[in-house]
Amino acid sequence: KVAPLVDLYGRQHNYLRISLTERCNLRCQYCMPAEGVPLSARDALLSRAELLRLVHVFAELGVNKLRLTGGEPSVRSDLVDIVQELSGVPGVRTLAMTSNGLALARRLPALQRAGLRALNLSLDSLRPARFESMARRPGLPRVLASMDLALQLGFDSVKVNTVLMKGFNDDEISDFVELTREREIDVRFIEFMPFSGNRWQDERLVSERDALAAARRAHPRLARAADAACRTATMWRVPGYAGRIGFISSMTKPFCSSCNRLRLTADGNLKVCLFGEAETSLREALRGGASDAELHALVRAALRRKLPQHAAALPVAPRRALARNYCTSAPEPP
Ligand code: GTP
Ligand code: 5AD
Ligand code: SF4
Repeated sequence: KVAPLVDLYGRQHNYLRISLTERCNLRCQYCMPAEGVPLSARDALLSRAELLRLVHVFAELGVNKLRLTGGEPSVRSDLVDIVQELSGVPGVRTLAMTSNGLALARRLPALQRAGLRALNLSLDSLRPARFESMARRPGLPRVLASMDLALQLGFDSVKVNTVLMKGFNDDEISDFVELTREREIDVRFIEFMPFSGNRWQDERLVSERDALAAARRAHPRLARAADAACRTATMWRVPGYAGRIGFISSMTKPFCSSCNRLRLTADGNLKVCLFGEAETSLREALRGGASDAELHALVRAALRRKLPQHAAALPVAPRRALARNYCTSAPEPP
């Protein structure tokens, strides 16, 4: 029996986020420049067979939840085949995807049949003109159609991710809460995270505290709901509404202390932290003929270098805020 992926801080890693592509059919201002991002050479990207092999390796190490991400995963024309293959890997219990929903509706039934069970949709504005100014492309009705179709098809879980940005969409909190009136969805308000050390975004940050206060002003009966295990979000509901709202506070209340995530980039690099610079090329090892045992060792070595918390949140949340509320029972850190 292979030992699970526990890091130096006792966190057990059972969740792999897989980037299927660097490409995207939107150009959200906080994510990409208008001209897009430089793309890796085609042969640097993992083939489907290579991805499948790596997922087998991760599943042997105890990974049981996969999330397909991008870029935008739905720009892959072989997405249904990928879902079919990965959902059949022994040990994989949850296969989820995060998508912008723009070009998804047509393929949702096939994706569901192939084994996709959970869908998170990124959606930052419910106003068409704003959506277009943020995403630099139109498409709001298509995103909403994907959301409603996923509900109609009976996906196990449908969530909406809304990154709040001060002066841009913080006046829509109450409209997003209204989305949960008739729909069994979780709308999760996300604190904007600065990337590549650029901190101008600090002025854009709407903290969980402020967002919750705004939601409460509009819905005074808002009440706490149960959080998921290994939670990233704090959940609430308006009594009588079908869905829930939540807050993902990566900046003011980082969930690093219960982090259970690994990521695989489209070109086959393992990242142990979203914010970390360090990447381990599993593709090189794979193409060099590495055995499963050698791949296990590479993953474990990378995990040994995982830090207790991401530096980006440190100025906001002091180090001592690092609580030991791990989501899996595990040994005390050394
Ligand atoms: P669930 O499995 O449904 O809980 O989804 P998720 O939250 O794991 O994934 P999703 O792709 O929907 O991401 C939602 C938000 O979580 C993102 O917008 C980020 O703000 C945050 N997030 C995702 N991955 C990480 C991570 O590794 N570290 C941190 N700090 N935040 C993350
Ligand atoms: N801060 C917070 N969330 C972000 N996302 C993308 N960039 C950021 C950022 N800078 C969100 C997307 C998507 C999820 C995977 O990450 O909106 O829903
Ligand atoms: Fe985990 Fe890094 Fe995200 Fe913190 S920032 S939750 S350590 S991936």
